[in-house]
Amino acid sequence: MEITITKAKELKPKPADESKLGFGQIFTDHMFNMDYNPAKGWHNPRIEPYKPFEMDPATMVLHYGQAIFEGLKAYRTEKGNIQLFRPKENIHRSNSSSRLLCIPEIDERFALDALKQLITVEKDWVPGAPGTSLYIRPTIIATDVFLGVKASDTYRFFIILSPVGAYYPEGFNPVKIWVTTRHVRAVRGGLGEAKTPGNYAASLYAGQQAHKKGYTQVLWLDGVEQRYVEEVGAMNIFFVIDGEVITPALNGSILPGITRNSVIALAKLWNIPCTERRVAIQEIIDAQKEGRKVEIFGSGTAAVISPVGTVRFGDEEVTIGDNKVGPLTERFYKELTDIQYGRAEDPMGWTEPVL
Ligand code: PLP
Ligand code: COI
Repeated sequence: MEITITKAKELKPKPADESKLGFGQIFTDHMFNMDYNPAKGWHNPRIEPYKPFEMDPATMVLHYGQAIFEGLKAYRTEKGNIQLFRPKENIHRSNSSSRLLCIPEIDERFALDALKQLITVEKDWVPGAPGTSLYIRPTIIATDVFLGVKASDTYRFFIILSPVGAYYPEGFNPVKIWVTTRHVRAVRGGLGEAKTPGNYAASLYAGQQAHKKGYTQVLWLDGVEQRYVEEVGAMNIFFVIDGEVITPALNGSILPGITRNSVIALAKLWNIPCTERRVAIQEIIDAQKEGRKVEIFGSGTAAVISPVGTVRFGDEEVTIGDNKVGPLTERFYKELTDIQYGRAEDPMGWTEPVL
């Protein structure tokens, strides 16, 4: 399929100070759009000026949330080139999410090509200041105009781009997390492993409660026993206890993070013991109290590697590793970002050049 390109007549001003970029507030000049209907399949792929959608108020996605999305980044290297980090994994995961949401799959090779073409058009929007990148948000929404509950027949696939800095205001400093036993994000057999808006809607109320109490994020426990750790609002979670890296096993209600997968692969490459298993939150609290060497960090595209310095569980607030960034947390952060920004060798072939 040929992608038609229509350039914007006027370009927006680029951010004046890249070091002040927050997350997801500024959008570039162009976007990618493509439509689906049962007769034509995915058709009419186009790069065109970024603009609002006009929608019938009865459009299905607005009522029943039938949608999926992805999050990945393009990085500017020190030499000035642009590269993506594991984009094929994101496109592959979007098709897994689509299957669970009854959305027709996209051709993965075509989607990568479309993404590269869009970034090429928007190459001047990829920031170069330390810690910045171009965040990429591919999304599919149900577009039938109908109020009955069923899977839509028609869809829109779009990609928007946003130059970003750190996701958390704390940057690479330890965040405080609140373990909730009152709320549940997802349960096995549900949609937890899909990147779909409903999972984020389900997290808002607890997130607000956490903020009111002074915590940055919610740490979710399993939806059945409320004992085992699942993940954090926008990232997967890792524990280090006496040199062993531990992360909750994928069980259907956790998002299979691409950063998570990369951390596990790096641990294996470095011969660091790394286990994917069920982890009770009490086990972590006890390990810290027993004076064992504990580190906690989150992993995600937006959050990168994010150290956790405080965990609140019930009435107890536990400080992790003196609220300092632990040595393994630092090592994973450095290696991952060095690969992403092209400062280090890429032993796994994770980066994908664009320009
Ligand atoms: N878990 C949730 C709920 C997320 O939103 C994200 C972010 O995408 C992650 C985990 C981390 O996934 P990834 O490393 O693929 O960005
Ligand atoms: C990401 O890390 O890409 C996310 O999607 C997290 C959040 C912004 C929803």
